[in-house]
Amino acid sequence: MAHSDKRELVLGIAGLGTVGAGVVKILTGHADLIAARAGCPVRIKAVSARDRSRDRGVDLSAYDWYDNAADMVEDDEINLIVELIGGSDGPALKLSQAALERGKGFVTANKALIATHGKALAITAEEQGAALRFEAAVAGGIPIIKALGEGLAANEIIGVRGILNGTCNYILTRMENEGLDFSEVLADAQRLGYAEADPTFDIDGIDTAHKTAILAAMAFGKEPNIQNLPTEGIRTIAPVDIEYARELGYRIKLLGVAQRTKEGIETRVHPAMVPISAPLAGVMDATNAVMVEGDFVGQTVYVGAGAGEGPTASAVVADIIDVARCGNSCPAFGVAPATLEPYVPVPVERHQGTYYIRLRVDDRHGVMADITAALAEEQVSIESMLQRGRATEGGVYIVLTTHLTAEAAISATLNRFTKLECVLETPTMLRIEAF
Ligand code: HSE
Repeated sequence: MAHSDKRELVLGIAGLGTVGAGVVKILTGHADLIAARAGCPVRIKAVSARDRSRDRGVDLSAYDWYDNAADMVEDDEINLIVELIGGSDGPALKLSQAALERGKGFVTANKALIATHGKALAITAEEQGAALRFEAAVAGGIPIIKALGEGLAANEIIGVRGILNGTCNYILTRMENEGLDFSEVLADAQRLGYAEADPTFDIDGIDTAHKTAILAAMAFGKEPNIQNLPTEGIRTIAPVDIEYARELGYRIKLLGVAQRTKEGIETRVHPAMVPISAPLAGVMDATNAVMVEGDFVGQTVYVGAGAGEGPTASAVVADIIDVARCGNSCPAFGVAPATLEPYVPVPVERHQGTYYIRLRVDDRHGVMADITAALAEEQVSIESMLQRGRATEGGVYIVLTTHLTAEAAISATLNRFTKLECVLETPTMLRIEAF
């Protein structure tokens, strides 16, 4: 919807889960405030969801009901579709294409859709003069898409690093505070509703990867690339590593990183040792945070709720207001969509960083010599080394941190360690993130 057409924004909302219900609540509860800010009334005309009978805590009786979301685009009065279905393909993709091809605005909270099809959708939006917005897709209530696309638009972005998954941050926080194993905390988080029944997307880093791909696209003006994004989750984090992290002055966080380096653009998702003095280290429980570094502005940090009804619906409604105010005059990724070039991120083996390695080894003479020999063979320089007490499973733990080195050298060193007779289990490696 172009700015000049604006008399009334008429919405079709697809998906009435927690966020959908939250959007209805804000739009009805703040109708006057939203009309004042939008510069026109914003009216819900239709809704679509699978189950009509479910009580969602909102009165939906005044709205047309569609069983099939894509049919809403046939209603000529509706000029903006709000998609809260989720999934990179299927009904969400169909709806997005149908809406934009008819020149209707499209607001979504769907990170998988934007990370996978963002460029194609942005091109259709531009061709049809339609607005595409996805603030709620990344870090829920934190306005990070606006920050990158507008507030920091004067800067070349050097890097974006974030805690982008509340479930993982909640689990890591409780593991640290209570000294519990990952699986114990996960089970409890599921019981309390902090983690989904199928938590794979969250704990294996896939949710963070989608968000990171979108942030990289916004930051560097590139086509989102989810295919080549090295992704590791938090399943393998052990309480002993959290303890060693503390001793060494770090806290373990699952990070999404998109960084300009000498080698090119690096994107990666993995648990990392974050220096305790860095702002991201202090972000606990289900809170999200994003740090953006721009060449003129320096470091900026954004902290808030990354999920949940109110925060996510707040971002969706902000996008709706934005469409009313600006129509399609502001490109979805901050640059003309045709200029969103594909890119291949720097392979993780070429990442230059410092590393934490934990080994469980036999407690006998000569072990340290074997370990240091393996490091020397791969030209990996040790920054610090610790040995404390005995491991409960037998042997002792040796923990070391390295000086700056290429990840390929670390992988080769870990291979050497694995082949040593004195090494009793697969070594643990964590990247140390410099801030
Ligand atoms: N499941 C996500 C989280 C929120 O735990 O943060 C939606 O992206």
